[in-house]
Amino acid sequence: MTEDRPEQSATLERTQERSREIERELTVSPGAFRLLTGDRPTGDLHIGHYFGSLANRVTIQDQGVATVIVIADYQVITDRDGVGPIRDRVYSLVADYLAAGLDPERTTIFTHSAVPALNQLMLPFLSLVTEAELHRNPTVKAELEATGGRAMSGLLLTYPVHQAADILFCKANLVPVGKDQVPHLEMCRVIARRFDERYGRANPAEPVFPAADALLSQSGALILGTDGTKMSKSKGNVIELKMTADETAKALKKAVTDSDRHITYDPVNRPEVSNLLTVAGLCLDKDPRVLADEIGDGGAGMLKKVVTEALNERLRVHRERRAAYAADPAYLESVLAGGNARANAIADATLTEVRTAMHMQY
Ligand code: TRP
Repeated sequence: MTEDRPEQSATLERTQERSREIERELTVSPGAFRLLTGDRPTGDLHIGHYFGSLANRVTIQDQGVATVIVIADYQVITDRDGVGPIRDRVYSLVADYLAAGLDPERTTIFTHSAVPALNQLMLPFLSLVTEAELHRNPTVKAELEATGGRAMSGLLLTYPVHQAADILFCKANLVPVGKDQVPHLEMCRVIARRFDERYGRANPAEPVFPAADALLSQSGALILGTDGTKMSKSKGNVIELKMTADETAKALKKAVTDSDRHITYDPVNRPEVSNLLTVAGLCLDKDPRVLADEIGDGGAGMLKKVVTEALNERLRVHRERRAAYAADPAYLESVLAGGNARANAIADATLTEVRTAMHMQY
């Protein structure tokens, strides 16, 4: 991410505070929330996704919150030329969602390309933001920089508006995201507010769109790759959910550590060792410092043994279920078809409200 400007960090602080408040409200009145979040189908999910978001989505679903998950296939082509093996990637996501415990009876899983009315919201929404606002978005800028000299596409520049359509088509008021998505959430709130100011219903107490809040992951425990740097498939430092126990053991055997035999949790000076402790800690529900003390002079060998066993045990059921789903493509297709049908019904109803508010009901 680019350097935070003062108003951005003020926004982040406010968002963090509100996010903590919501965590409390969620346990008291889960029925007051509709949650939307999603993923770009650019590859297979890995343990960073699992501990960073997937497990949490299941917890919130199980608390009784209406949950909608978007597989953001159009977002794949914001900063790359082709869609890649998108069909396989979409169904790979669906398999991991189901294996993790998202229940297609309660949770709507859909691809946004399959929902025309959602995409049509983009037109009125684009009228509500200025070109200067779009150019200011720090996450879009960072994504452009990461492409190494590509020209900005119209879709990359405007995708936060498209993402607002993902959120608002179902009137979601809660969006679990990482810190990098906070500027998009801010834009989504602006769009919702301006829509009602400009085109909204006669009664301002009954806005068409709610103001969506971000739910930031509180742990802040960012998992790194097996070499201690940011996870990235191209660097080969990722442990994917679909890997076997043996593949996981092999990947962890190659994990980078350091020459100090005595294991300590020290993320600043020993990022690689500390990252392995973090992963093991998440799997075992244990403080990584306590784990470090337990391993003590056991060295990197013992640390790797602990993390391998913990991770393979933690993912065992997920992987068994995932393999069963992956072997049944017809079922995965029926889950997505059902989710897309439900998303279309919701989007059609919202678009009708939008057209009515805009006096475009013919
Ligand atoms: N932009 C998100 C990402 O790259 C994916 C996404 C698409 C999303 N639409 C969304 C997240 C709506 C939250 C809400 O991870």
